[in-house]
Amino acid sequence: MSKPHNITWHDSSITKEDRRKQNNHSSFVLWFTGLSGSGKSTIANALSKELYERSIRNYVLDGDNIRNGLNRDLSFSDNDRTENIRRISEVSKLFVDNGTVVLTAFISPFLQDRQKAKEIVSEEEFFEIFVSCPIEECEKRDPKGLYSKARKGEIPDFTGIDSPYEEPVSPDITIHTDEQSVMESVETIINHLKNRKLI
Ligand code: PPS
Repeated sequence: MSKPHNITWHDSSITKEDRRKQNNHSSFVLWFTGLSGSGKSTIANALSKELYERSIRNYVLDGDNIRNGLNRDLSFSDNDRTENIRRISEVSKLFVDNGTVVLTAFISPFLQDRQKAKEIVSEEEFFEIFVSCPIEECEKRDPKGLYSKARKGEIPDFTGIDSPYEEPVSPDITIHTDEQSVMESVETIINHLKNRKLI
């Protein structure tokens, strides 16, 4: 993407460090990725509550919600998914600058887009969480009835059916939602954050 013309960057008088200090914790992005129905939103929301109870300011950005507003102009074509993730990455960066812990729950099926997201946010402030679940199990769960519709040809470009999902190569955390309960998954993430002295 080309650089915008006639635009001047304004530094804020309150820095990210000031905001972190006021919050009494660091800020970063926990980037959940996985198939539809794998449990991204469920785990992100359960973790959000856990962090909230520990007085850690956090916010969940969720695929369905963002596509209802900010990204309502985007389809599920490869190009639009890339643009979806780019915008979310920029929004996440703003939240991190505000001293907030961001939990993003998007399928984000393409390796390259997730790598770009990491570059937009910054390497040190971006942690990839692979929400792993076999597609057969996701399809069995089918919480929104979307797999069934996709199988009937009613939803084109459905992830895992006629649109690809590229698994993370070296995620920071992997959770297996076909084996772990929601609370076990949350605990795995909390322990990881503690070990890295992020919380
Ligand atoms: S992406 O690939 O990251 O741009 O997708 P995302 O913004 O996370 O949106 C995924 C949710 O949109 C619904 N939905 C679809 N998903 C995948 N493929 C197609 N074609 C599609 N059409 C609608 C679905 O509810 C996804 O939510 P989750 O929570 O992942 O099930």
